[in-house]
Amino acid sequence: MSDIYTLYNETVMDHFMNPRNLGDLADADGVGEVGAAACGDIMKISLKIKDGRIEDARFKTFGCGSAIASSSMATELIKGRSVQEALHFSNQDVIQALGGLPPVKIHCSVLAEEAIKAALDDYLKRHPAPAAPAAQPT
Ligand code: FES
Repeated sequence: MSDIYTLYNETVMDHFMNPRNLGDLADADGVGEVGAAACGDIMKISLKIKDGRIEDARFKTFGCGSAIASSSMATELIKGRSVQEALHFSNQDVIQALGGLPPVKIHCSVLAEEAIKAALDDYLKRHPAPAAPAAQPT
């Protein structure tokens, strides 16, 4: 391999070469697609959510290796989390789980955070919380 690969650690390279959760979910409950203005890369995340918990997650990323590794790791990390927990998901979770990214590639992990939040927004729009019952006069 060329010296360029020394920029990336083994975990990043593994998720780039063997991405987890690649593809779409035909019956997704929430889908988010975002683009990075700086580089033009695009990331799409699909979620299957049951009883307020993320059962499955898939991604499609048209972008750099760090974006592919970030979306692969992000989908692994959010599976099994509740929607409320996932709303707090951060690109720092991705960076930590990947064991770090080069500073010029941090925005690739931000794309994963934004795609997950967009998918959760889509889910919440499609499944609004039931309104609280009106207070009864005493
Ligand atoms: Fe744009 Fe990685 S260079 S997402």
